[in-house]
Amino acid sequence: MASVVVVGTQWGDEGKGKIVDLLTRYADFVVRFQGGNNAGHTLVVDGKQYIFHIIPSGILYEDKTCVIGNGVIIDPGVLLKEMASLAEKGLTVTPGKMLISSNAHLIMPYHQRLDVARENALSKDKKIGTTGRGIGPCYVDKVGRVGVKVGDLMDPSLFKEKLEAAIDEKNFVLKKQFNAEPVDLAAITDEFTRYAEQLAPFVGNVSVTLDKARKAGQNILFEGAQGTQLDIDHGTYPFVTSSNTIAGNACIGSGFGPSHIDEVIGILKAYTTRVGEGPFPTELPEGDAIGDTLQQKGHEYGATTGRRRRCGWFDGVVANDAVRLNGLTGFAVTKLDVLSGMKKIKLATQYDVEGTPYEYMPENIRLARAAKPVYEEVDGWSDELTDVRSYDDLPQEAKSYLKRVEDLTGIAPAIVSVGPGREQTLMLRNPFEKK
Ligand code: IMP
Repeated sequence: MASVVVVGTQWGDEGKGKIVDLLTRYADFVVRFQGGNNAGHTLVVDGKQYIFHIIPSGILYEDKTCVIGNGVIIDPGVLLKEMASLAEKGLTVTPGKMLISSNAHLIMPYHQRLDVARENALSKDKKIGTTGRGIGPCYVDKVGRVGVKVGDLMDPSLFKEKLEAAIDEKNFVLKKQFNAEPVDLAAITDEFTRYAEQLAPFVGNVSVTLDKARKAGQNILFEGAQGTQLDIDHGTYPFVTSSNTIAGNACIGSGFGPSHIDEVIGILKAYTTRVGEGPFPTELPEGDAIGDTLQQKGHEYGATTGRRRRCGWFDGVVANDAVRLNGLTGFAVTKLDVLSGMKKIKLATQYDVEGTPYEYMPENIRLARAAKPVYEEVDGWSDELTDVRSYDDLPQEAKSYLKRVEDLTGIAPAIVSVGPGREQTLMLRNPFEKK
């Protein structure tokens, strides 16, 4: 029995989808614990393409229970669409296969509208570059104690009371502050009454269910969304998402005790990307030959918004922040194949911030923006890696690169990925198997 947390170590889009899919094979429960439909990943299984934003991809396996924890925020329309799209492909999501926490908060139509209106109103240098899915405004209401929970939706009179209490203020802000379209109370009530009926069979107590599973000796996989540097407390604030993306939130966002976590695996892309605004010290600007190669070869476009991802070299400062903040026990290094063909590869080992060396991301956003990476350079390799199936068959330079990452961070890779397919994976150590 083991409980394993998987988190992104950089700015999201590290390839968590593939690694989570792989590890799901060993899990009985797959749990999402934060974020909402700002996340997204695509999986191709048996020639069929699946895009997931809310439901854990574990749903593709027959014998797994997918769990949406209290820390997740749910746009019920998007969730039901995702279920419908799975049904079209022959996969019916039944209550035995998916459990939604009654404590999870709902993304309401006004949250989405406020997210977009607020971003539009910001000057170019102040924009966060949000996904426009209502994430920030929904978490604001949660912390402000005026949010609407899934459990409220199941109780029509409570839902009506909460909605009525919220809507005047939201419409006032939408109209008066942002000159945006207000939302309609009757339309939302109708829409959400339908959602309530459809979702009711899936709602329950996630903490109790996971505790029973653990006591019964079952394996639990916690699937983080976004990445460490997007964490609301520890990331490059304010250019972050509105939830805690680090491993500690696996416990808070699902009601699972911290002493029961066995392993924390950090997904580490072999280079770095970022989508949206904010500091990115190792960024290679658009037009830079290497940056453009990483972008094209790595297909670096956001799964949720389709935006071009900014690309840059591996950042050891970011990796070390992730090791510390998440208590990592292993890395899953992804997209190593994308680096093939580079004569020299750079790794940032620290930052120079206005003459002062930094081994962690400065908390001050002005200093984070001023951070200049200090690089070292190692030899690249020319062979493509996509057909490599064992660590021993990697070119010596690729092994040296991985070893350098390990030496810089103190954490060894447990998994190395050399392509998008399930078979393009070198499993050096299975985190579900006790050390
Ligand atoms: P929000 O989460 O939509 O509020 O967006 C806040 C910031 O997080 C923006 O820079 C987004 O691009 C980024 N972001 C949110 N979700 C993801 C993700 O799943 N992958 C990568 N970046 C993300």
